[in-house]
This record gives sequence, C-alpha cells and structure tokens, in this order.
Amino acid sequence: MARTGFVAGNWKMNTNKQGAVALAKAVAQGAPAGVQVGVAVPFVYLDAVGQALAGSSVMLGAQDACWLPNGACTGEISIEMLKDVGAKFVLTGHSERRHIFGDGPEFVAKKAHAVYSSGLTLIHCVGETLEQRDANQTLAVVQKQLEELQPASIADPDRLVIAYEPVWAIGTGRNATNEQAQEVHAYIRQALGKLWNQNFASQVRIQYGGSMKPDNAAGLLAQPDVDGGLIGGAALKAESFLAIVNAAK
Ligand code: 13P
Repeated sequence: MARTGFVAGNWKMNTNKQGAVALAKAVAQGAPAGVQVGVAVPFVYLDAVGQALAGSSVMLGAQDACWLPNGACTGEISIEMLKDVGAKFVLTGHSERRHIFGDGPEFVAKKAHAVYSSGLTLIHCVGETLEQRDANQTLAVVQKQLEELQPASIADPDRLVIAYEPVWAIGTGRNATNEQAQEVHAYIRQALGKLWNQNFASQVRIQYGGSMKPDNAAGLLAQPDVDGGLIGGAALKAESFLAIVNAAK
C-alpha cells in the first residue's frame, strides 16, 4: 500500500509574528510535490501564517485544541476558532501536553474525538518515556494511547495520522534508531489493524518524531512503516525542514 508521505513541523512555543510569516513563506516556496507538508503554529500566529500560506499546498495546523464548542473555558481555543482562521489539522496528545501540562488520557481522548469529528485531520501523538522503555513497557504504553481514539467514529484513514514520538528522543538530539522506530511503527500498524481493520491500518500515515534531522531523516523514512515525520527543532529553519521534507518524497 503506497502511502503519501506527510512531514509536519511543530513550531511549539517558538517564533514571533514576523519570523513565523517568513518561515511559512520559505516553506511554501520550497515545498516539493509528492509529499504532504504541514506546519503546527502557535495559536496567535495561525491567522498570519495562514495568509502567508495562501495558494500553497502547505497545511496549516494547531498544536492543541479544546474539545468543547464554546462558552466558559477561560484560556482555551475551540476547534471552530481554529477552522475560522484556516487550520486543517490539529495535534493531540503531544508528550509536552501530557507530561508538562498534565493532559491526562481522558482529556486527550476528548480532544482527539472532537478534532476528527470536526472534519479536520487529526495527528495523534503517542510515545513512551525512557523509564517506560527501560521497563519494557513501550508497546503497552503506545497501545493505551492508541485506545484513546474511537474507531467507531473514525472512518477516513486520510484524516487520521499517528505520530510516534519517544519522549526520550524529543529535543534531546538522541533519535530512535531506524530499527527502534520501525519496531514500534509496525506494532502501531498492527494495533490499528485490530482496532479498525487491516485495510484501514494500511492507509494510516505513521510519523516519527524525536530529534529527526536532515542527517538521520533518510534512514528513518526508509523504514517500511515510517511514513513521515513530526519535526520540532529542525522545523524552525526552512532549510533543515525542507531537507527532511525532500527525504520523504
Ligand atoms: P524535536 O524534533 O525537537 O526533537 O521535537 C520533536 C517533537 O516533539 C515534534 O512534535
């Protein structure tokens, strides 16, 4: 099953307005055909970046969302608000949300459900801590995080993306080896096959994230079940981000 590669930059809490617009323009200008490209942008720059990306194929995305539609939710951003400024995808369950800001599995599950139901593309992030890996719990942790999704209400494999991001590899410069990534990605596809069915699972893109850089991207992306990347640090410069994008063609 040929899957179109999907590389997304997660800018996290970085850039300023001017830098965000300049980075978006450079990405739009350099993005090649044959691979899906996205940028997950700080909320306050979504509108400006959306305008900078107008007419390009680069997808605008948000890094989080509230699951409630509107109302008394001080500090939150609804999915309708994200759609209003042009967002096409949303991340859920990023390890920084889970581990720094305390998003528990119930919150993450509600967010994932709300994002997919809204018609946007969902990038659902899973991954183990170093402690969990050392205790041989990697696959069990990933399994539980996949079970935050509701197979009965997710029918379109194009709008579901799983990002495998081992927590110990994020921002550390220590990426998973090609073999470590492939082992977990293959497990994820098998788990999706059980939760949905084989045909559905074979169409879902599974991104790797965690210190993916231009010099290790080709090896990771050559693995049969690695269909793209979710890029942090290397996505803050158009040159390094586009080098990874090109490796996914
Ligand atoms: P780094 O590429 O900086 O390790 O970040 C990965 C990540 O968390 C993307 O969501």
